[in-house]
Amino acid sequence: MPTELHHEGATPLHNARSHLRVPRRSGYSHRCAANGDKERVITANRQTSWAFADAFVAEDEALRWARDRARETGLRSVSPGTGAALRLLAATLDAKAVAEIGTGTGVSGTYLLLGMRPDGVLTTVDTEPERQQFARQTFRAAGFAGNRARFIPGRALDVLPRLADGGYDLVFCDGDRLECMDYLAESLRLLRPGGLVCFEGVFADGRTVDSAAQPAEVLRLRELLRTVRESPELLPTLLPVGDGLLCAVRRG
Ligand SMILES: C[S@@+](CC[C@H](N)C(=O)[O-])C[C@H]1O[C@@H](n2cnc3c(N)ncnc32)[C@H](O)[C@@H]1O
Repeated sequence: MPTELHHEGATPLHNARSHLRVPRRSGYSHRCAANGDKERVITANRQTSWAFADAFVAEDEALRWARDRARETGLRSVSPGTGAALRLLAATLDAKAVAEIGTGTGVSGTYLLLGMRPDGVLTTVDTEPERQQFARQTFRAAGFAGNRARFIPGRALDVLPRLADGGYDLVFCDGDRLECMDYLAESLRLLRPGGLVCFEGVFADGRTVDSAAQPAEVLRLRELLRTVRESPELLPTLLPVGDGLLCAVRRG
């Protein structure tokens, strides 16, 4: 049976609502496959299609440089597909003010800046100032003026409360997964009505939908998914790009 997003040790949510069930790790619903061979073929095609979609957008030298710096320090950057989705969302919102948790070496920040208005400002927070120095170089190499980004070193939960209520079009969360529920609460305060919150990595490499015992960070991600899906304040979608991009618009 497919795995569900369920409360640990409690009754699974929405037992009677099969449309809310998430696929097995094979990535394919039992209802669509008449036999094992067909399922394997479709699953392989789907995985190839996902890989194609994720690599669909070509990256320039500045982004490749940022990825190399991230790789050297063992840091996970957003995939090209996730970056392209963020760029699209920022452009669709005509975003002027974006907040980012988890600067890294600047891969996601570059995509966000590419989608924002030419006078837009990215406020980006990271506990590691050296990483922010790499990001500063990445943004410069990508052609952005210095005043397009505001780098704030520090822990997100210390910094976010100092940012303006309702002052942001988009909040992108890619910091500490254990803090994702706090990031959601802060994002709802930071976003203007109609603004968008996005969480990177909610699949946790497939562990979110794996019924085996999981660490606290995965349990938090499940809680985040349930909360965002159930919130009357939010219009959610879960985009299957990269390692899963959970997005939700704050209703007006
Ligand atoms: C996955 S990396 C971000 C990658 C970046 N978004 C990109 O695509 O280029 C996560 C970053 O979050 C930072 N981080 C971890 N915990 C944090 C916290 N509590 N507050 C702020 N930043 C944090 C880490 O230092 C790391 O640089």
